[in-house]
Amino acid sequence: MESFMAEYSGIQVPPATRIGDSLRQVGTPSLMLDLNAFEFNIEQTAKLARSHDVALRPHAKAHKCSAIAAAQIAAGAVGICCQKPSEAYPFVRQGIRDIHISNEFVGADKVAMAIELARHVRLSVCVDHIAQIDALGMAATQAGVAITVLPEVDIGQGRCGVSTSDELVTLTDRLARYGGLRFGGVQAYHGGIQHVATWEERHAAAGRSAELAARHVQFLEARGIACPVVTGGGTGTVEFDVRSGVFTELQPGSYIFMDAAYGSNEWAGSFVPRHSLFIATTIMSTAKKGMAVCDVGLKGVAVDSGLPIVRPDSGADDLTYTAANDEHGILNIAGDDRCDRLGDRVLLIPGHCDPTANLYRQYIGFRGETVEAVWEIDASGLSR
Ligand SMILES: Cc1ncc(COP(=O)(O)O)c(C=O)c1O
Repeated sequence: MESFMAEYSGIQVPPATRIGDSLRQVGTPSLMLDLNAFEFNIEQTAKLARSHDVALRPHAKAHKCSAIAAAQIAAGAVGICCQKPSEAYPFVRQGIRDIHISNEFVGADKVAMAIELARHVRLSVCVDHIAQIDALGMAATQAGVAITVLPEVDIGQGRCGVSTSDELVTLTDRLARYGGLRFGGVQAYHGGIQHVATWEERHAAAGRSAELAARHVQFLEARGIACPVVTGGGTGTVEFDVRSGVFTELQPGSYIFMDAAYGSNEWAGSFVPRHSLFIATTIMSTAKKGMAVCDVGLKGVAVDSGLPIVRPDSGADDLTYTAANDEHGILNIAGDDRCDRLGDRVLLIPGHCDPTANLYRQYIGFRGETVEAVWEIDASGLSR
C-alpha cells in the first residue's frame, strides 16, 4: 500500500489554463473574467463614489478573492466588507487592513476569530442584540483589542437589524460598557430592493430605505450620540444611495461582475455596469436533435436567481440554456440545427455571481482572446 502511495503521490490534475493561452485552450468548465469590463466597472463605481464624497467599501462576498479586493483598494476603496469572520482571513493574509463584517455573528468560535482579526486589521462588526455585544465586549476588553461596532438597523428588509430607534439606543448604551468596543455608526442594508426591475421604482424604494436610516441617525443625534458612518447599499441602488445625503459609505459587491439577474434590471444612471463574469463551457454531446448538452450544470453555476444566459453576440445566439443537472447543462438550439455543435465553446453569464464564484477555485482573467491572469478565489467556501 505504502509503495503504491509513493508511486502515485505526485499525480496532479493539470491546470485549466496558463497565462498566454488562447480562450479556446482553457479547460472547461472554468470561471472567466473579462478584464476590460471588470476594470471599467471598478473604475466607474469608484469615480461615482468619489464624485459624491461617499466612501466605497465593496463587498467581498461577491468575489471572495484577495487579488480583486486589492484592485478595488487600488481604485480608492477604503476597505472591504466580508459577510462572515472566516471569510476575512485570506484578505488579511494578503494585506487588506480595514474590514467590516457586515453581518451579525454568534458563538465562541466566531468571537475568537473576530478578536484575532482585530489584532491585525481595523475591524468593524454588526450587532442587533445585547448578548452579541456582551460576548464581544468581554472578549475584546480582555484581549486588549479595539473593535468598532455598527448596530444594524432594519430599513425594510425585515431580516436582521433593530426596527426601532429605542432598540438602537439600548445597543449604543450597552456598547459604552466595554473598553474594547467603540460605536462606529450604523449598518443599514436592504437587499430586497436591489433587484426592483424598473429604475424609477428602485429609485423610490431606495429613497424610502434611506429615509428610515436617516430617522435613526437623527434620533441618535438628538440624544447627543454622533453617528459618523451610515453604511449599506448594493449594486442596484448605488446610484441613488450616493446622492441620498444619508449614506456615508457604500457596500456594493456584484457591480464588478454584473450577473444576469442584475443585467435584467433597468439601468439609467451615470453608467451601466458591464458583464465581466462568464462560465466557459463546452458542448460535449449532441446526441439529441434540437438540443446540445454542455459540461456545466449545478456544480458550476448557481441557479437560485435564474438560469445562466448565453453571452449575447458571441455567435451562439441560437442557443438557450434551459435546464441544469448536476454536471450537465441543457441548451436548446433554435431553428436549423443541421450543423453539429459538438466541441463548440459557449460563454455563459451566470444568473447570480456570488454563489457561482463560491463554486470555483480561480478566476481566469482574459483580454480579447488571451488569458492574462489567474487569480485564486482564496475565500471560496469560507462561510463560518
Ligand atoms: C450586507 C450587504 N451589503 C452589501 C451587499 C452587496 O450587494 P450586491 O452584491 O447586490 O451589490 C450584500 C449582498 O447581499 C449584503 O448582504
